[in-house]
Amino acid sequence: MMIQQNISLMPFNSFGIDVNAKYFASFSSEVELLTILKEKDQTIPESNLLLIGSGSNILFTQDFDGLVIKNEIQGMSIVHEDEEFHYVTAGAGVLWDDFVGFCIENNLGGVENLSLIPGTVGAAPIQNIGAYGVELKDVLHAVKLLDLHERQWIVFNNRDCDFGYRSSIFKKKLKGRFVITSVTCRFQKNHQTNIRYGSIKNSLIAMGVTTPTIKDVSETVNEIRRSKLPNPSEIGNAGSFFKNPVISKTEYQQLLNDYPDIVVYELDGMYKVAAGWLIDKAGWKGYREGDVGCYPKQALVLVNYGNGNGMQLLELSKKIQQSILKKFGILLEAEVNIL
Ligand code: EPU
Repeated sequence: MMIQQNISLMPFNSFGIDVNAKYFASFSSEVELLTILKEKDQTIPESNLLLIGSGSNILFTQDFDGLVIKNEIQGMSIVHEDEEFHYVTAGAGVLWDDFVGFCIENNLGGVENLSLIPGTVGAAPIQNIGAYGVELKDVLHAVKLLDLHERQWIVFNNRDCDFGYRSSIFKKKLKGRFVITSVTCRFQKNHQTNIRYGSIKNSLIAMGVTTPTIKDVSETVNEIRRSKLPNPSEIGNAGSFFKNPVISKTEYQQLLNDYPDIVVYELDGMYKVAAGWLIDKAGWKGYREGDVGCYPKQALVLVNYGNGNGMQLLELSKKIQQSILKKFGILLEAEVNIL
């Protein structure tokens, strides 16, 4: 039997929330995944399924009354090259930052700005992870999937994934339909580093680096992240709790009148507002209620200082949402999956 019963999910979510899964299983190969699904069909056919990687983008607010399946497929290799690109395939259970490390060691540029993002390779396409001016969609070549309806293996290319800001087809139209088992990224042979994002550029200038290598960029990103974001092994968190909201030019101009220091990024004629700035401006940064709070160094990150639970974090997130709606007329949308 691969499926276990009544397992605590505390070690499997980066918020460190202590809830139980009614059923739990993990797999390290495609064959094991199929075995688990067969076992489920025979013993608990009606059970809900939840696929997880390292649980770094989930907030559990209650016990999970179904089967949690943890993807632990490993392995990374350079599988192919053509005139323009090197192609690297990694198992979905590989930690994303280990994948970044592998690429940097092999002098493959393209994911160095995405250094130190928590989570697994298999989760990366689901929310199109992004940081410091780069998103997974910029390098993703293909995703291998098991279609849970048809029980068939298929491959999606970049366009099939329908990527958007922190979004993809796997989060929307086809939510819950597939298990991602491996991901292939492609790396341009004449890669140019992207240091347009303000804080990277400023750090590199401060270090006196004018033509940075991919390793320099990665180290700079690591430093910036370590200085702002809590390490989940020390303080429970799931990175940015909300998405940065996108508003129209008119809305932006109105806000600019009242708040000349508002932080926005232009995005195809629309304006992406720094949610961290909104939350900070509304006075929440560093706020703590029992064991849950708003991180003192980055207001967009909600944290569990130890014994907080999912409902308390959800309540706090709702209070923040209401306060931002009242003050700025903007509704923040959670980035984290709330279950
Ligand atoms: N800011 C404040 N106060 C705060 C936090 C931020 O005023 O407490 C302002 C600052 O002016 C700063 C600006 O907001 O310049 C943006 O902050 P930051 O550079 O930290 O980025 P972010 O917009 O808060 C996004 C991503 C992060 C990603 C960084 C860097 C989202 C939801 N979050 O955060 O991703 O690392 O940019 O690219 O898009 C994640 O998704 O979990 C995540 C951490």
